[in-house]
Amino acid sequence: MDLQLSDEHRMIRDMARDFARVEIAPVAAEFDETGEFPRETVAKMGAHGFMGIAVPEEYGGAGMDTLAYALALEEISKVDASHGVIMSVCNSLFCYAIYRYGTEEQKQKYLRAVASGEVVGAYALTEPQSGSDAGNIRVTAEPSPEGSHYVINGTKSWISSGPVAKYILTFAQTDLEATPRYRGVSAFIIDTDEPGFSRGKTEPKLGIRASATCEVHFEAYRCPAHMRLAEEGEGFKIAMSVLDAGRIGIAAQALGIAEAAYEASLQYAREREAFGEKIGKFQMIQQKLADMKTRIEASRLLMYQAALAKDEAAKTQSRYTLESAMAKLFASETAMWVTTEAVQIHGGMGYSKELPVERYFRDAKVTEIYEGTSEIQRLVIARLETELR
Ligand code: CAA
Repeated sequence: MDLQLSDEHRMIRDMARDFARVEIAPVAAEFDETGEFPRETVAKMGAHGFMGIAVPEEYGGAGMDTLAYALALEEISKVDASHGVIMSVCNSLFCYAIYRYGTEEQKQKYLRAVASGEVVGAYALTEPQSGSDAGNIRVTAEPSPEGSHYVINGTKSWISSGPVAKYILTFAQTDLEATPRYRGVSAFIIDTDEPGFSRGKTEPKLGIRASATCEVHFEAYRCPAHMRLAEEGEGFKIAMSVLDAGRIGIAAQALGIAEAAYEASLQYAREREAFGEKIGKFQMIQQKLADMKTRIEASRLLMYQAALAKDEAAKTQSRYTLESAMAKLFASETAMWVTTEAVQIHGGMGYSKELPVERYFRDAKVTEIYEGTSEIQRLVIARLETELR
């Protein structure tokens, strides 16, 4: 693994760092408090090319590689994980899916719109009865007899960016007789401005509060056949392979959160005094800082490895499921552990809303849950290693 960042990688990382410092840092705490969606800064992220970093320029993207995308996402998430997840869903779950599986027409219309930041994209896999058991999809897409369209019915839940997305990549059953069930799943690009689509209430969340999440409902939604992604029955594999990409994004988001909490802790340990000493001189604080730093750097290496593996795999159409699951598992558990220790190092101030440490702690938790819980990542890793299913 080549650990040298290229000039291009450093350039996008620095650009994202500056953008986050100037545009996001001043508003992050306020949007966390109100739980409002930060439309203005998200639009600016789009205008700066952050919504389609790894999408070729011919489709409205920045034409960079996966590592460039992950570096930028890490910097944005370091300042605010809510902006991080909005960016991650657009890049990995929407744009990557359309780029990899879409027709030329779909790429020109839907990929271009999201990658250029004109509109927001989302991804709807989860349903009220199927989170980890993602193959147990009940939303149906019944093909019309003449094959011109599908009629979609049912509910999807926990849709990140659902309240604001123009297009949502949605997975639905086109063949109820299929065994196993997941072989009857197909993927569709949904235009949320069309009749038959509606949104439920926005979820009140523990963390990433400025990112909007909701249920979405389909009632006799008429989806033209040309908005189906790939062939009928290929939906579940599309969903899984797109999550391989998405999990690298969540690893980068988790890494950013952990770094922010670590840097705040380091500064506090240098300044805060107790028993007549800087607390950073106490071995119990030193041990925490040393372990935080080590786990963060290990997460970074796993995340870089997964990003490089994804771009290598694209050349051979092979999988990088193992690398991405390991990166997501380790980085998210690191983020949770590091932010917990950061609160502890800060003592009462860590528990106070006057400092951002408690926000990092709340934001970290979701990285162990969405895009596959830590338990699911372990299952994926163990199945691949043992070759047992
Ligand atoms: N790439 C391509 N194909 C894959 C794949 C991958 N990564 N993983 C599995 N498949 C294929 C398998 O090869 C198999 O194909 P065949 O029928 O040809 O054999 C098929 O898919 C079924 O695979 P499994 O038998 O492994 O399926 P399973 O039912 O046992 O489920 C699972 C596997 C790993 C548990 C999966 O359901 C899973 O990942 N669950 C977690 C779901 C998840 O991550 N949800 C996140 C929602 S989105 C989100 O969170 C976004 C957000 O808010 C930010």
